[in-house]
Amino acid sequence: MNAIETRDLTRYYGTLRAVNRLTLSVDREVFALLGPNGSGKTTTVLMLTTLLRPTEGSATVSGHDIVRDGEKVRRSLSYVPQDMAVDIKLTGRENVLLYARLYGIKNPKDRIDELLAMMQLTDRADDLVKTYSGGMRRRLELAQALVHEPEVLFLDEPTLGLDVAARSTIWEHITALKKGGMTIFVTTHYMDEADRFCDRVGIISKGTLLALDSPQTLKSRLGNDVITARIDGEFKDPDLEGVKLFSFSNNEASFLTEKGREALPHLADAFTKTGVIVRSLALREPTLDDVFLHTVGKVEEPMGFDQTKFRTMLRRRK
Ligand SMILES: Nc1ncnc2c1ncn2[C@@H]1O[C@H](COP(=O)(O)OP(=O)(O)O)[C@@H](O)[C@H]1O
Ligand SMILES: [Mg+2]
Repeated sequence: MNAIETRDLTRYYGTLRAVNRLTLSVDREVFALLGPNGSGKTTTVLMLTTLLRPTEGSATVSGHDIVRDGEKVRRSLSYVPQDMAVDIKLTGRENVLLYARLYGIKNPKDRIDELLAMMQLTDRADDLVKTYSGGMRRRLELAQALVHEPEVLFLDEPTLGLDVAARSTIWEHITALKKGGMTIFVTTHYMDEADRFCDRVGIISKGTLLALDSPQTLKSRLGNDVITARIDGEFKDPDLEGVKLFSFSNNEASFLTEKGREALPHLADAFTKTGVIVRSLALREPTLDDVFLHTVGKVEEPMGFDQTKFRTMLRRRK
């Protein structure tokens, strides 16, 4: 039995379908649900942590049904919400103690000391949390979440709003927990972090899971090379054979190709012939961002780039 199993998990808010027949298994890994704002990430986590009832479908956490065995599910997991879960008017130690009491842990002192040390908070444990930095608060939330030794840890946007150094510290802790055998389910919209630190990612858009695999597999499935062209003025896809346009935004067009080095000069020529003014042309390996744009671009979806422009452009190609 995997730590998390979902089957056709679905949630409506009124007529809005926020999560649509989500089926996946997660076990002893760092799994990231990746998607733009409003794609259904938090709703999924709320259902899996029993805070929200599914409309349809089912799921188990540590083998317990999230609807029928809510109590057992809650015992086996911890959840750190996107918004702050600590009390800023208490000290770090008091915050962890509060959780230890809530979970009925006997003689919690050693456990609390251990967790505060693990999260590098020993020195500041007796200071009020309102004096903590964002990174320290997140670490304190992790300490709290670990008090009852959960099997499964849910983190909703764990690095949102943190500086670069604090982010990598959080990911180091997440990685260490995974090595200890924990199953970690995170949501994020930071592609680069998911790429570096997660074993597998699920790409969700408008509640529907569109891709599910390791970042490496998703990238290699996309193709060998990506060519990005920054252009001035009107853009027209040169429509070269074996060079597929997959995104266009802010005067930057991205193409997928198997042989980037060979395609590069041909693409430059083709642009010149079509009268497109190229400012720069660059060859690189695919990133998870590319995978995301390519995947999400397949469905109607408000995206980071100018969708209307892109659609018009694609229409013009036909
Ligand atoms: N309590 C709610 N009532 C109505 N609609 C909601 C509620 N919570 C979220 N939504 C909507 O459901 C969709 C998914 O939201 P959410 O799960 O929060 O997405 P994400 O976490 O990926 O940003 C969004 O369109 C959002 O506006
Ligand atoms: Mg969210």
